[in-house]
Amino acid sequence: MAFDQINELNPAKSTALGPLRVMAQEYPNISTRAIDIDKKVRISTLITEITAENQSPSVVLRGAQRWSQYFEPIKLGQTKRSNVTPESSNTSTVIPTNPENKNKSSQNVNFYNSEIADNVSNQNPSKIKENGLYLITGGLGDIGLTLATHISSESKVHFALLSRSKFPERQEWPSLLKNSAADRQKRQIQSIQQIESNGCSVQIISADVSDELTMKRIIDELEHQYDRIDGIIHAAGIVGQSSFVTLNDARTPDGKQANRDQFPSKVDGTEVLGFLMKDKSFDFCMVCSSLSPILGGLGFSAYAATNLYADALVEKLNLSQPGKWISVNWEGWMFDHDVVPGDSATSSALELGMTPQEGIDIFSRIIRTHDLDRIVISSGNLQNRISQWVEKQPAAPETDEAPSHQRPIHLGNYTAPTSETEKQLVRLWGKLLGMDGIGVHDSFFELGGNSLLLTQLVAMIRKTFQAELALSAMFEHPTIAEIAKNIDNSKKGSTDSDDRDEGFI
Ligand SMILES: NC(=O)c1ccc[n+]([C@@H]2O[C@H](COP(=O)([O-])OP(=O)(O)OC[C@H]3O[C@@H](n4cnc5c(N)ncnc54)[C@H](OP(=O)(O)O)[C@@H]3O)[C@@H](O)[C@H]2O)c1
Repeated sequence: MAFDQINELNPAKSTALGPLRVMAQEYPNISTRAIDIDKKVRISTLITEITAENQSPSVVLRGAQRWSQYFEPIKLGQTKRSNVTPESSNTSTVIPTNPENKNKSSQNVNFYNSEIADNVSNQNPSKIKENGLYLITGGLGDIGLTLATHISSESKVHFALLSRSKFPERQEWPSLLKNSAADRQKRQIQSIQQIESNGCSVQIISADVSDELTMKRIIDELEHQYDRIDGIIHAAGIVGQSSFVTLNDARTPDGKQANRDQFPSKVDGTEVLGFLMKDKSFDFCMVCSSLSPILGGLGFSAYAATNLYADALVEKLNLSQPGKWISVNWEGWMFDHDVVPGDSATSSALELGMTPQEGIDIFSRIIRTHDLDRIVISSGNLQNRISQWVEKQPAAPETDEAPSHQRPIHLGNYTAPTSETEKQLVRLWGKLLGMDGIGVHDSFFELGGNSLLLTQLVAMIRKTFQAELALSAMFEHPTIAEIAKNIDNSKKGSTDSDDRDEGFI
């Protein structure tokens, strides 16, 4: 260990990397890098670092040593800890999910994954024990219930599923299933019934994982009932639309932070679990983090920051505690109910998502590993994604070449541009997407645009029209007609509050 990892590891400081990364994505004209130095770093070393041609997004300088982050693909089942040497610190492991075909179904299990699964199941037993007790925070959420249902199909265990909302009493379930319950609640009830019919017991607990006193009482009660908590899956979190707050919208007009919601589950919740479990023996605590600490993501400054905190805390807990902690930087999960037909925002967000079956398959392998603190799950090549997203190597450079694709027929009726702004936007989109014949009501995402291309589009629009627009507005109204209307309004100097709501400033 070349530097004092345990004393230097400060989860709170690591959160700065979240907004730093996202800032450069939301504002393509801004570049950011993190250079972490100590007092011994010479000014000449720092200048060399700042002016170097190959610039790593995050670098640690300690005296004369330089550390940068890289990710190493790994086949689970051959898990040996990588050597940590200068120039290779912060090494994390990556399991690629199916990189070949992202329009896949769950039958489309890729060969690489199956090979790993065989490999692992031959080598290590699962850490899930018959009759064990498993606490799942966020246990009534999509991932929590998917994993609990999977575990119940293989072992007879006890589950404590914890979420903040009060869940209906069991006697109400039949009528809720028949009539009034929302789809999410029906799915939750059906999953619990499935888990119980597999021979497992389920306790539903309503509590906030960030509430230390309540969590202490719950853990004491569970230990009293079952002797010990055998494993924890910390899957409490705020996802979906509410996790998406652009830096522009991060402060509401009354000065409050719009993205404060992310902190209780990931920051306080992980701290509370770390504190309450510190002297206990348990087989694993898996913290569900995301790819946002590595890739950032539009609107994800707070989400990335809080996941960074959780990742760093897991590393710290493993250095100081006997229990085994692991953080999993999950790829997005693509649940059937998430895909709203025709909704551009969800299709864009899920463009690289994993199927629940892939998630289960990966979980089964993780739960058989023993020596890893952190695993990153990435569909597609992670290093390429870092190059595009973080190092901002252009994926689709601006070009004057003629567009090579025609507008897809399935988009329906074509509406031609009429105003000059619309015509210019059609040309910009055409260049970016390499497509001819784009209509003014076509959605950017349905034409094949993705979040990365969106940042480039925003930069092109800024340059061409001198108009500043919020990414949230682009997600909500990703058509040329809407964007042109707002550009024209902003040019007229409209201060209409509706325009502000659309995100143009
Ligand atoms: N879904 C994905 O694609 C994805 C990808 C990468 C990482 N992850 C991470 O995986 C975790 C689970 O995601 P998911 O898709 O299962 O989300 P989900 O369906 O929204 O479930 C999350 C659950 O956490 C509960 N929760 C939120 N804050 C809590 C708190 N302070 N204390 C206790 N429970 C709390 C929520 O219920 P209440 O509101 O009732 O409390 C909800 O049931 C999240 O941490 C997320 O960041 C998800």
